[in-house]
Amino acid sequence: MTAVNATTQPQAPSAQPMLEFDNVRAAYGSIEVIHGASLTIQEGSVFALLGPNGAGKSTMLKVCAGLLPLTGGEVRIAGVPVHRPSQVAVADDLARRGVCLIPEGKGIFPNLSVKDNLKMMTNAGKTVSQIEDVAYSQFPRLGERRRQMAGTLSGGEQQMLAMSRALATDPALLLLDELSMGLAPIIVQDLYQAVGQLAKLGVTILVVEQFARTVLGVANRAAIMVSGQVSKVGDPAELEHELEAAYLGGEL
Ligand SMILES: Nc1ncnc2c1ncn2[C@@H]1O[C@H](COP(=O)(O)OP(=O)(O)O)[C@@H](O)[C@H]1O
Ligand SMILES: [Mg+2]
Repeated sequence: MTAVNATTQPQAPSAQPMLEFDNVRAAYGSIEVIHGASLTIQEGSVFALLGPNGAGKSTMLKVCAGLLPLTGGEVRIAGVPVHRPSQVAVADDLARRGVCLIPEGKGIFPNLSVKDNLKMMTNAGKTVSQIEDVAYSQFPRLGERRRQMAGTLSGGEQQMLAMSRALATDPALLLLDELSMGLAPIIVQDLYQAVGQLAKLGVTILVVEQFARTVLGVANRAAIMVSGQVSKVGDPAELEHELEAAYLGGEL
């Protein structure tokens, strides 16, 4: 499957950096796993961070979302430093800046209905019907299943629900961890169509993926991470050719 067609590659609408990782270092206990990583993600763009298992991709998102402190470097959102060593921005501050992480486990509540999962997001300021309108127009299949327990949805539908919950917070910066995990390619394609549409509305999106090259079809820019370092940054079409080399000796 070739996800990238250079002639239809979307262009990021502006050149204002929304998110900057500047020489970031992070550790679990005394073991450093991010060894000075730098990335710049433009406002309203889709940035794909790819790499083998254990490269440090999820850790980069955790650092950005304030779930793990930095041990070196700086993270800036819209030019403002929000994370520095021994100082983690509080969740409220990040939420106010519109940072929203959809973790690998999707962060939904399996024993609640679709509607109740959405209802829980009303503390972000919208009414449940406003949230449902956005969710069901973006993902009509969710509307058909609004009374179904979230845990009984298909994997793709659960990911749609996770994205709908994120949309209820009006995110400026959406962090997506392994969107495609365990899903059929056709579903992954649909989800990435939705991601591309969100970026057109001005949402900046950082997507982490181990395997899915489908993301390269909607990404404006991409990077490969290996062993806690960014080994290559470039156009998605250009990076697709580098992927195989990056994975050699890895899990594949
Ligand atoms: N909670 C944790 N405690 C200790 N080490 C961790 C933890 N989470 C991840 N690691 C380690 O950090 C490194 C990077 O992991 P991670 O960011 O999850 O990689 P990726 O998402 O690219 O697969 C790996 O060596 C992993 O074993
Ligand atoms: Mg991961």
